[in-house]
Amino acid sequence: MSDTAKTARLVAPEGRTVDLPVLEGTLGPAVIDVRRLYAETGTFTYDPGYTSTASCRSAITFIDGERGVLLYRGYRIEELATKSDFLEVAYLLLHGELPTREQYDRFVHDITYHTMLHEQIQFLYRGFRRDSHPMAVMIAVVGALSAFYYEDLDVDDPHHRMVATHRMIAKMPTIAAWAYKYSVGQPFMYPRNDLDYAANFIHMMFATPCEPYRVDPVLARALDRIFILHADHEQNASTSTVRLVGSTGASPYAAVAAGIASLWGPAHGGANEAVVRMLEEIGTVDRIPEFLARAKDRNDPFRLMGFGHRVYKNYDPRAAVLKESADEVLDLLGIRHNPKLEIAKELERIALQDEYFQERKLFPNVDFYSGIILEAMGIPRRMFTAIFALARTVGWMAQWNEMIVDPEQKIGRPRQLYVGPGERAYVPMEERR
Ligand code: ACO
Repeated sequence: MSDTAKTARLVAPEGRTVDLPVLEGTLGPAVIDVRRLYAETGTFTYDPGYTSTASCRSAITFIDGERGVLLYRGYRIEELATKSDFLEVAYLLLHGELPTREQYDRFVHDITYHTMLHEQIQFLYRGFRRDSHPMAVMIAVVGALSAFYYEDLDVDDPHHRMVATHRMIAKMPTIAAWAYKYSVGQPFMYPRNDLDYAANFIHMMFATPCEPYRVDPVLARALDRIFILHADHEQNASTSTVRLVGSTGASPYAAVAAGIASLWGPAHGGANEAVVRMLEEIGTVDRIPEFLARAKDRNDPFRLMGFGHRVYKNYDPRAAVLKESADEVLDLLGIRHNPKLEIAKELERIALQDEYFQERKLFPNVDFYSGIILEAMGIPRRMFTAIFALARTVGWMAQWNEMIVDPEQKIGRPRQLYVGPGERAYVPMEERR
Protein backbone atom coordinates (compact mmCIF):
# COMPACT_ATOMS: atom_id res chain seq x y z
CA MET A 1 0.00 0.00 0.00
CA SER A 2 1.29 3.43 -0.81
CA ASP A 3 0.10 6.65 0.74
CA THR A 4 0.77 8.97 -2.20
CA ALA A 5 1.30 12.68 -2.13
CA LYS A 6 -2.06 13.09 -3.92
CA THR A 7 -4.68 15.24 -2.24
CA ALA A 8 -8.34 16.00 -2.79
CA ARG A 9 -9.35 19.63 -2.35
CA LEU A 10 -12.54 20.34 -0.47
CA VAL A 11 -14.13 23.73 -0.18
CA ALA A 12 -15.82 23.62 3.18
CA PRO A 13 -18.63 25.92 4.41
CA GLU A 14 -17.50 29.49 4.83
CA GLY A 15 -15.12 29.04 1.92
CA ARG A 16 -12.34 27.32 3.85
CA THR A 17 -10.28 25.12 1.58
CA VAL A 18 -8.73 21.97 2.87
CA ASP A 19 -6.43 19.53 1.08
CA LEU A 20 -7.21 16.00 2.17
CA PRO A 21 -4.69 13.19 1.60
CA VAL A 22 -5.65 10.50 -0.90
CA LEU A 23 -4.56 7.00 0.16
CA GLU A 24 -4.16 4.22 -2.36
CA GLY A 25 -4.39 0.51 -1.66
CA THR A 26 -3.00 -2.32 -3.75
CA LEU A 27 -6.37 -2.89 -5.46
CA GLY A 28 -9.68 -1.06 -5.54
CA PRO A 29 -10.64 2.59 -5.27
CA ALA A 30 -8.41 5.09 -3.47
CA VAL A 31 -9.81 6.72 -0.32
CA ILE A 32 -9.89 10.32 0.80
CA ASP A 33 -8.52 10.55 4.32
CA VAL A 34 -11.01 12.75 6.20
CA ARG A 35 -9.55 12.26 9.67
CA ARG A 36 -8.51 15.91 9.94
CA LEU A 37 -11.73 17.25 8.46
CA TYR A 38 -13.41 18.22 11.71
CA ALA A 39 -10.27 19.76 13.16
CA GLU A 40 -9.75 21.84 10.02
CA THR A 41 -13.31 22.71 8.97
CA GLY A 42 -15.58 22.01 11.94
CA THR A 43 -17.70 19.68 9.76
CA PHE A 44 -18.25 15.92 9.67
CA THR A 45 -19.02 13.64 6.72
CA TYR A 46 -22.55 12.17 6.48
CA ASP A 47 -22.78 8.57 5.26
CA PRO A 48 -25.61 6.46 6.73
CA GLY A 49 -24.98 2.77 6.01
CA TYR A 50 -21.31 3.60 5.28
CA THR A 51 -21.89 3.36 1.55
CA SER A 52 -18.83 5.51 0.80
CA THR A 53 -16.73 5.07 3.91
CA ALA A 54 -13.68 2.87 4.41
CA SER A 55 -13.43 2.13 8.11
CA CYS A 56 -10.00 0.51 8.15
CA ARG A 57 -6.98 -0.66 6.20
CA SER A 58 -7.21 -4.39 5.63
CA ALA A 59 -5.02 -6.95 3.87
CA ILE A 60 -7.39 -9.90 4.23
CA THR A 61 -10.16 -9.90 1.62
CA PHE A 62 -10.74 -7.92 -1.56
CA ILE A 63 -13.96 -7.64 -3.53
CA ASP A 64 -14.31 -6.10 -6.96
CA GLY A 65 -18.07 -5.74 -7.03
CA GLU A 66 -18.18 -4.44 -10.59
CA ARG A 67 -16.36 -7.47 -12.01
CA GLY A 68 -17.69 -10.04 -9.51
CA VAL A 69 -14.27 -10.94 -8.09
CA LEU A 70 -13.55 -12.10 -4.55
CA LEU A 71 -10.00 -12.66 -3.30
CA TYR A 72 -8.87 -14.05 0.06
CA ARG A 73 -5.32 -12.76 0.62
CA GLY A 74 -5.00 -12.40 -3.16
CA TYR A 75 -6.33 -15.85 -4.13
CA ARG A 76 -9.53 -16.23 -6.15
CA ILE A 77 -12.41 -17.73 -4.20
CA GLU A 78 -13.27 -20.12 -7.04
CA GLU A 79 -9.77 -21.60 -6.88
CA LEU A 80 -9.72 -21.91 -3.10
CA ALA A 81 -13.17 -23.51 -3.11
CA THR A 82 -12.05 -26.25 -5.47
CA LYS A 83 -8.40 -26.77 -4.44
CA SER A 84 -8.21 -26.11 -0.68
CA ASP A 85 -10.04 -27.29 2.38
CA PHE A 86 -11.62 -25.04 4.98
CA LEU A 87 -8.86 -25.18 7.58
CA GLU A 88 -6.26 -24.42 4.92
CA VAL A 89 -8.31 -21.37 3.95
CA ALA A 90 -8.75 -20.47 7.63
CA TYR A 91 -4.96 -20.53 8.05
CA LEU A 92 -4.59 -18.35 4.96
CA LEU A 93 -7.08 -15.78 6.25
CA LEU A 94 -5.48 -15.68 9.69
CA HIS A 95 -1.81 -15.72 8.71
CA GLY A 96 -1.74 -14.22 5.22
CA GLU A 97 -0.13 -17.19 3.41
CA LEU A 98 -1.20 -20.70 2.48
CA PRO A 99 0.30 -23.12 5.00
CA THR A 100 3.15 -25.53 4.32
CA ARG A 101 2.32 -29.17 5.10
CA GLU A 102 3.92 -28.78 8.52
CA GLN A 103 2.07 -25.55 9.34
CA TYR A 104 -1.18 -27.10 8.15
CA ASP A 105 -0.80 -30.23 10.28
CA ARG A 106 0.03 -28.13 13.34
CA PHE A 107 -2.97 -25.85 12.74
CA VAL A 108 -5.36 -28.76 12.22
CA HIS A 109 -4.05 -30.27 15.47
CA ASP A 110 -4.53 -27.00 17.37
CA ILE A 111 -8.10 -26.60 16.12
CA THR A 112 -8.99 -30.27 16.65
CA TYR A 113 -7.86 -30.23 20.29
CA HIS A 114 -10.01 -27.24 21.23
CA THR A 115 -13.34 -28.57 19.98
CA MET A 116 -14.86 -29.63 23.31
CA LEU A 117 -17.01 -27.24 25.30
CA HIS A 118 -16.70 -26.84 29.04
CA GLU A 119 -19.12 -29.40 30.51
CA GLN A 120 -20.97 -26.68 32.42
CA ILE A 121 -21.99 -25.00 29.16
CA GLN A 122 -24.54 -27.80 28.69
CA PHE A 123 -26.59 -26.22 31.45
CA LEU A 124 -26.85 -22.99 29.49
CA TYR A 125 -28.53 -24.85 26.63
CA ARG A 126 -31.00 -26.39 29.00
CA GLY A 127 -32.24 -22.94 30.01
CA PHE A 128 -33.63 -22.32 26.52
CA ARG A 129 -37.05 -23.23 25.20
CA ARG A 130 -36.78 -26.16 22.82
CA ASP A 131 -38.07 -24.07 19.91
CA SER A 132 -35.45 -21.33 20.33
CA HIS A 133 -33.78 -20.26 17.12
CA PRO A 134 -30.21 -21.67 16.99
CA MET A 135 -28.85 -18.18 16.31
CA ALA A 136 -30.35 -16.97 19.62
CA VAL A 137 -28.72 -19.90 21.39
CA MET A 138 -25.39 -19.29 19.67
CA ILE A 139 -25.34 -15.61 20.63
CA ALA A 140 -25.82 -16.61 24.26
CA VAL A 141 -23.36 -19.51 24.32
CA VAL A 142 -20.59 -17.63 22.50
CA GLY A 143 -21.18 -14.62 24.76
CA ALA A 144 -20.93 -16.96 27.74
CA LEU A 145 -17.49 -18.14 26.60
CA SER A 146 -16.27 -14.68 27.62
CA ALA A 147 -17.15 -15.67 31.18
CA PHE A 148 -15.28 -18.98 30.88
CA TYR A 149 -12.15 -17.41 29.39
CA TYR A 150 -11.89 -14.06 31.08
CA GLU A 151 -9.09 -13.90 33.64
CA ASP A 152 -6.52 -15.45 31.33
CA LEU A 153 -7.24 -13.29 28.27
CA ASP A 154 -5.13 -10.26 27.49
CA VAL A 155 -6.14 -9.03 24.01
CA ASP A 156 -2.80 -7.25 23.60
CA ASP A 157 -0.85 -10.49 23.99
CA PRO A 158 -0.38 -12.23 20.60
CA HIS A 159 -0.29 -15.69 22.19
CA HIS A 160 -3.53 -15.06 24.05
CA ARG A 161 -5.12 -13.81 20.85
CA MET A 162 -3.98 -16.92 18.99
CA VAL A 163 -5.39 -19.26 21.64
CA ALA A 164 -8.69 -17.35 21.64
CA THR A 165 -8.77 -17.59 17.84
CA HIS A 166 -8.18 -21.36 17.86
CA ARG A 167 -10.78 -21.85 20.57
CA MET A 168 -13.38 -19.80 18.76
CA ILE A 169 -12.92 -21.59 15.41
CA ALA A 170 -12.72 -25.02 17.06
CA LYS A 171 -15.74 -24.68 19.33
CA MET A 172 -18.16 -23.07 16.89
CA PRO A 173 -19.21 -26.36 15.18
CA THR A 174 -19.84 -27.90 18.59
CA ILE A 175 -21.85 -24.86 19.72
CA ALA A 176 -23.95 -24.84 16.53
CA ALA A 177 -24.52 -28.62 16.44
CA TRP A 178 -25.56 -28.65 20.10
CA ALA A 179 -28.08 -25.87 19.46
CA TYR A 180 -29.65 -28.23 16.92
CA LYS A 181 -29.43 -31.33 19.15
CA TYR A 182 -31.14 -29.45 21.97
CA SER A 183 -33.97 -28.33 19.68
CA VAL A 184 -34.75 -31.93 18.67
CA GLY A 185 -34.34 -33.34 22.17
CA GLN A 186 -31.40 -35.60 21.30
CA PRO A 187 -28.27 -36.08 23.43
CA PHE A 188 -25.38 -33.78 22.70
CA MET A 189 -22.69 -35.55 20.68
CA TYR A 190 -19.09 -34.90 21.61
CA PRO A 191 -16.62 -33.92 18.89
CA ARG A 192 -14.59 -36.68 17.24
CA ASN A 193 -10.94 -35.82 16.75
CA ASP A 194 -10.45 -38.40 14.00
CA LEU A 195 -12.80 -36.51 11.68
CA ASP A 196 -12.04 -33.42 9.68
CA TYR A 197 -13.70 -30.09 10.44
CA ALA A 198 -16.82 -30.42 8.26
CA ALA A 199 -17.23 -34.17 8.85
CA ASN A 200 -17.05 -33.64 12.60
CA PHE A 201 -19.82 -31.05 12.38
CA ILE A 202 -22.03 -33.42 10.38
CA HIS A 203 -21.32 -36.14 12.96
CA MET A 204 -22.30 -33.88 15.87
CA MET A 205 -25.49 -32.88 14.02
CA PHE A 206 -26.73 -36.29 12.95
CA ALA A 207 -25.09 -39.06 14.99
CA THR A 208 -26.71 -40.45 18.13
CA PRO A 209 -25.07 -42.53 20.88
CA CYS A 210 -27.27 -45.53 19.97
CA GLU A 211 -25.61 -46.63 16.75
CA PRO A 212 -22.56 -46.03 14.59
CA TYR A 213 -22.88 -43.14 12.14
CA ARG A 214 -20.82 -42.88 8.99
CA VAL A 215 -20.32 -39.38 7.61
CA ASP A 216 -20.72 -39.33 3.83
CA PRO A 217 -17.42 -37.87 2.55
CA VAL A 218 -19.19 -36.32 -0.43
CA LEU A 219 -21.47 -34.35 1.87
CA ALA A 220 -18.56 -33.40 4.11
CA ARG A 221 -16.70 -32.02 1.08
CA ALA A 222 -19.77 -30.09 -0.10
CA LEU A 223 -20.22 -28.56 3.35
CA ASP A 224 -16.51 -27.77 3.58
CA ARG A 225 -16.87 -25.83 0.33
CA ILE A 226 -19.82 -23.89 1.74
CA PHE A 227 -17.65 -23.03 4.76
CA ILE A 228 -14.87 -21.74 2.47
CA LEU A 229 -17.27 -19.55 0.50
CA HIS A 230 -18.62 -17.96 3.68
CA ALA A 231 -15.33 -17.58 5.57
CA ASP A 232 -14.81 -13.85 5.03
CA HIS A 233 -16.23 -10.94 3.08
CA GLU A 234 -14.31 -7.84 4.13
CA GLN A 235 -16.17 -5.09 6.04
CA ASN A 236 -19.75 -6.43 5.92
CA ALA A 237 -22.26 -5.64 8.70
CA SER A 238 -21.33 -8.50 11.03
CA THR A 239 -17.57 -8.09 10.56
CA SER A 240 -17.87 -4.36 11.17
CA THR A 241 -19.86 -5.21 14.30
CA VAL A 242 -17.08 -7.51 15.53
CA ARG A 243 -14.50 -4.82 14.85
CA LEU A 244 -16.61 -2.14 16.56
CA VAL A 245 -17.15 -4.22 19.70
CA GLY A 246 -13.50 -5.35 19.66
CA SER A 247 -12.33 -1.74 19.30
CA THR A 248 -13.38 -1.08 22.88
CA GLY A 249 -10.99 -3.78 24.11
CA ALA A 250 -13.90 -6.14 24.86
CA SER A 251 -13.45 -9.91 24.92
CA PRO A 252 -13.31 -11.45 21.41
CA TYR A 253 -16.00 -13.93 22.50
CA ALA A 254 -18.32 -11.00 23.28
CA ALA A 255 -17.38 -9.40 19.96
CA VAL A 256 -18.19 -12.59 18.03
CA ALA A 257 -21.49 -12.95 19.92
CA ALA A 258 -22.35 -9.46 18.64
CA GLY A 259 -21.24 -10.50 15.14
CA ILE A 260 -23.63 -13.46 15.24
CA ALA A 261 -26.45 -11.12 16.27
CA SER A 262 -25.65 -8.85 13.35
CA LEU A 263 -25.47 -11.74 10.89
CA TRP A 264 -28.90 -13.01 11.90
CA GLY A 265 -30.93 -10.33 10.11
CA PRO A 266 -32.70 -11.20 6.84
CA ALA A 267 -30.79 -8.45 4.99
CA HIS A 268 -27.53 -10.24 5.88
CA GLY A 269 -26.94 -13.91 6.78
CA GLY A 270 -30.59 -14.63 7.49
CA ALA A 271 -31.30 -14.37 3.76
CA ASN A 272 -30.42 -18.04 3.05
CA GLU A 273 -33.33 -19.17 5.21
CA ALA A 274 -35.58 -16.56 3.61
CA VAL A 275 -34.65 -17.75 0.08
CA VAL A 276 -35.86 -21.29 0.75
CA ARG A 277 -39.08 -19.96 2.31
CA MET A 278 -39.58 -17.75 -0.74
CA LEU A 279 -38.99 -20.62 -3.21
CA GLU A 280 -41.48 -22.70 -1.26
CA GLU A 281 -44.01 -19.87 -1.38
CA ILE A 282 -43.55 -19.47 -5.14
CA GLY A 283 -44.22 -23.21 -5.37
CA THR A 284 -44.33 -23.61 -9.15
CA VAL A 285 -42.45 -22.08 -12.07
CA ASP A 286 -45.61 -20.50 -13.51
CA ARG A 287 -45.96 -18.27 -10.43
CA ILE A 288 -42.54 -16.65 -10.91
CA PRO A 289 -43.87 -13.60 -12.85
CA GLU A 290 -46.28 -12.84 -10.02
CA PHE A 291 -43.43 -12.74 -7.48
CA LEU A 292 -41.16 -10.77 -9.78
CA ALA A 293 -43.92 -8.18 -10.19
CA ARG A 294 -44.19 -7.96 -6.40
CA ALA A 295 -40.42 -7.54 -6.04
CA LYS A 296 -40.55 -4.63 -8.48
CA ASP A 297 -43.55 -2.95 -6.87
CA ARG A 298 -42.41 -0.06 -4.67
CA ASN A 299 -45.58 -0.35 -2.57
CA ASP A 300 -44.94 -4.01 -1.77
CA PRO A 301 -42.25 -4.68 0.86
CA PHE A 302 -41.46 -8.05 -0.80
CA ARG A 303 -37.90 -8.36 -2.14
CA LEU A 304 -36.38 -11.18 -4.09
CA MET A 305 -34.37 -12.85 -1.36
CA GLY A 306 -30.88 -13.93 -2.37
CA PHE A 307 -30.76 -11.15 -4.95
CA GLY A 308 -28.82 -7.90 -4.79
CA HIS A 309 -25.76 -6.92 -2.83
CA ARG A 310 -24.27 -3.73 -1.48
CA VAL A 311 -20.94 -4.43 -3.14
CA TYR A 312 -21.55 -6.83 -6.04
CA LYS A 313 -22.97 -5.15 -9.11
CA ASN A 314 -22.24 -8.31 -11.06
CA TYR A 315 -22.69 -12.04 -10.42
CA ASP A 316 -21.51 -12.92 -6.89
CA PRO A 317 -18.69 -15.42 -7.60
CA ARG A 318 -19.76 -17.44 -4.55
CA ALA A 319 -23.24 -17.88 -6.05
CA ALA A 320 -21.64 -19.20 -9.25
CA VAL A 321 -19.69 -21.88 -7.32
CA LEU A 322 -22.78 -22.80 -5.32
CA LYS A 323 -24.99 -23.06 -8.39
CA GLU A 324 -22.59 -25.67 -9.74
CA SER A 325 -22.33 -27.35 -6.34
CA ALA A 326 -26.14 -27.57 -6.09
CA ASP A 327 -26.27 -29.69 -9.24
CA GLU A 328 -23.39 -31.89 -8.06
CA VAL A 329 -24.76 -32.46 -4.56
CA LEU A 330 -28.28 -33.28 -5.74
CA ASP A 331 -26.85 -35.62 -8.34
CA LEU A 332 -24.68 -37.41 -5.78
CA LEU A 333 -27.65 -37.72 -3.45
CA GLY A 334 -29.63 -39.25 -6.29
CA ILE A 335 -32.15 -36.39 -6.29
CA ARG A 336 -33.25 -36.15 -9.92
CA HIS A 337 -35.99 -33.60 -9.47
CA ASN A 338 -35.72 -30.75 -6.97
CA PRO A 339 -38.57 -28.26 -7.47
CA LYS A 340 -36.82 -25.52 -5.45
CA LEU A 341 -33.66 -25.69 -7.57
CA GLU A 342 -35.75 -25.65 -10.72
CA ILE A 343 -37.67 -22.58 -9.56
CA ALA A 344 -34.44 -20.88 -8.44
CA LYS A 345 -32.77 -21.37 -11.81
CA GLU A 346 -35.80 -20.19 -13.73
CA LEU A 347 -36.23 -17.23 -11.39
CA GLU A 348 -32.61 -16.27 -11.95
CA ARG A 349 -32.98 -16.63 -15.73
CA ILE A 350 -36.08 -14.45 -15.93
CA ALA A 351 -34.82 -11.85 -13.43
CA LEU A 352 -31.51 -11.41 -15.23
CA GLN A 353 -33.41 -10.58 -18.43
CA ASP A 354 -35.69 -8.12 -16.67
CA GLU A 355 -35.03 -4.40 -17.07
CA TYR A 356 -35.66 -3.67 -13.37
CA PHE A 357 -32.94 -6.08 -12.23
CA GLN A 358 -30.60 -5.15 -15.07
CA GLU A 359 -30.85 -1.41 -14.38
CA ARG A 360 -30.18 -1.88 -10.68
CA LYS A 361 -27.48 -4.49 -11.30
CA LEU A 362 -29.21 -7.06 -9.10
CA PHE A 363 -27.69 -10.55 -9.37
CA PRO A 364 -27.96 -13.71 -7.26
CA ASN A 365 -25.84 -13.49 -4.10
CA VAL A 366 -24.24 -16.24 -1.99
CA ASP A 367 -27.53 -17.00 -0.25
CA PHE A 368 -29.48 -17.79 -3.41
CA TYR A 369 -28.29 -21.39 -3.83
CA SER A 370 -26.73 -22.28 -0.46
CA GLY A 371 -30.05 -23.06 1.26
CA ILE A 372 -31.07 -25.49 -1.48
CA ILE A 373 -27.82 -27.46 -1.00
CA LEU A 374 -28.07 -27.44 2.79
CA GLU A 375 -31.69 -28.57 2.66
CA ALA A 376 -30.83 -31.42 0.28
CA MET A 377 -28.12 -32.47 2.75
CA GLY A 378 -30.81 -32.83 5.43
CA ILE A 379 -29.79 -29.72 7.34
CA PRO A 380 -32.83 -28.08 8.90
CA ARG A 381 -33.66 -24.61 7.67
CA ARG A 382 -33.14 -22.93 11.02
CA MET A 383 -29.52 -24.08 10.98
CA PHE A 384 -28.65 -22.33 7.70
CA THR A 385 -27.63 -19.02 9.23
CA ALA A 386 -25.95 -20.86 12.12
CA ILE A 387 -23.74 -22.57 9.53
CA PHE A 388 -22.98 -19.21 7.97
CA ALA A 389 -21.95 -17.92 11.43
CA LEU A 390 -19.79 -20.99 12.03
CA ALA A 391 -17.86 -20.38 8.80
CA ARG A 392 -17.68 -16.58 9.16
CA THR A 393 -16.09 -16.96 12.60
CA VAL A 394 -12.75 -17.39 10.83
CA GLY A 395 -13.15 -14.05 9.06
CA TRP A 396 -14.33 -12.35 12.25
CA MET A 397 -11.27 -13.58 14.14
CA ALA A 398 -8.86 -12.66 11.33
CA GLN A 399 -10.35 -9.16 11.16
CA TRP A 400 -10.38 -8.79 14.95
CA ASN A 401 -6.69 -9.75 15.12
CA GLU A 402 -5.85 -7.33 12.32
CA MET A 403 -7.71 -4.54 14.08
CA ILE A 404 -6.01 -5.08 17.44
CA VAL A 405 -2.51 -4.71 15.98
CA ASP A 406 -3.39 -1.79 13.67
CA PRO A 407 -1.86 1.34 15.24
CA GLU A 408 -4.37 3.55 13.39
CA GLN A 409 -7.40 1.89 14.91
CA LYS A 410 -9.32 3.69 17.64
CA ILE A 411 -12.52 2.95 19.48
CA GLY A 412 -15.28 2.95 16.82
CA ARG A 413 -17.34 6.04 17.47
CA PRO A 414 -19.30 7.60 14.57
CA ARG A 415 -20.61 11.17 14.72
CA GLN A 416 -24.13 12.34 13.82
CA LEU A 417 -26.20 15.03 12.19
CA TYR A 418 -28.39 16.13 15.08
CA VAL A 419 -31.94 17.05 14.03
CA GLY A 420 -33.67 17.13 17.45
CA PRO A 421 -34.79 20.17 19.39
CA GLY A 422 -32.33 22.90 20.31
CA GLU A 423 -31.60 23.59 23.95
CA ARG A 424 -34.80 24.53 25.78
CA ALA A 425 -36.05 25.31 29.27
CA TYR A 426 -37.34 22.43 31.44
CA VAL A 427 -41.15 22.46 31.87
CA PRO A 428 -42.49 21.26 35.27
CA MET A 429 -45.11 18.48 34.92
CA GLU A 430 -48.05 20.63 36.08
CA GLU A 431 -47.31 23.15 33.32
CA ARG A 432 -47.04 20.59 30.46
CA ARG A 433 -49.81 20.50 27.82
N1 ACO B 1 -35.47 -7.41 -4.83
C1 ACO B 1 -36.04 -6.34 -5.43
N2 ACO B 1 -35.47 -5.11 -5.47
C2 ACO B 1 -34.29 -4.96 -4.90
C3 ACO B 1 -33.62 -6.03 -4.24
C4 ACO B 1 -34.26 -7.28 -4.23
N3 ACO B 1 -33.67 -8.33 -3.63
N4 ACO B 1 -32.44 -5.59 -3.75
C5 ACO B 1 -32.36 -4.29 -4.08
N5 ACO B 1 -33.47 -3.90 -4.77
C6 ACO B 1 -33.72 -2.58 -5.34
C7 ACO B 1 -34.14 -1.58 -4.26
O1 ACO B 1 -35.53 -1.58 -4.07
C8 ACO B 1 -33.61 -0.30 -4.81
O2 ACO B 1 -34.50 0.12 -5.83
P1 ACO B 1 -34.78 1.70 -6.08
O3 ACO B 1 -33.47 2.26 -6.52
O4 ACO B 1 -35.84 1.74 -7.12
O5 ACO B 1 -35.21 2.29 -4.76
C9 ACO B 1 -32.30 -0.70 -5.50
O6 ACO B 1 -32.50 -2.07 -5.87
C10 ACO B 1 -31.08 -0.58 -4.60
O7 ACO B 1 -31.31 -1.32 -3.41
P2 ACO B 1 -30.80 -0.90 -1.96
O8 ACO B 1 -31.68 -1.50 -0.92
O9 ACO B 1 -30.59 0.58 -1.91
O10 ACO B 1 -29.36 -1.61 -1.92
P3 ACO B 1 -28.52 -1.94 -0.64
O11 ACO B 1 -27.12 -2.01 -1.09
O12 ACO B 1 -28.85 -1.02 0.48
O13 ACO B 1 -29.07 -3.38 -0.21
C11 ACO B 1 -29.31 -5.71 0.07
C12 ACO B 1 -28.42 -4.57 -0.45
C13 ACO B 1 -29.72 -5.45 1.54
C14 ACO B 1 -28.51 -7.02 0.04
C15 ACO B 1 -30.57 -5.80 -0.82
O14 ACO B 1 -30.18 -6.06 -2.15
C16 ACO B 1 -31.56 -6.86 -0.33
O15 ACO B 1 -32.37 -6.57 0.54
N6 ACO B 1 -31.50 -8.11 -0.90
C17 ACO B 1 -32.34 -9.20 -0.46
C18 ACO B 1 -31.81 -9.78 0.83
C19 ACO B 1 -30.55 -10.59 0.61
O16 ACO B 1 -30.47 -11.43 -0.29
N7 ACO B 1 -29.58 -10.38 1.49
C20 ACO B 1 -28.31 -11.14 1.47
C21 ACO B 1 -27.18 -10.24 1.10
S1 ACO B 1 -25.70 -11.17 0.95
C22 ACO B 1 -25.20 -11.42 2.53
O17 ACO B 1 -25.38 -10.64 3.42
C23 ACO B 1 -24.56 -12.65 2.81
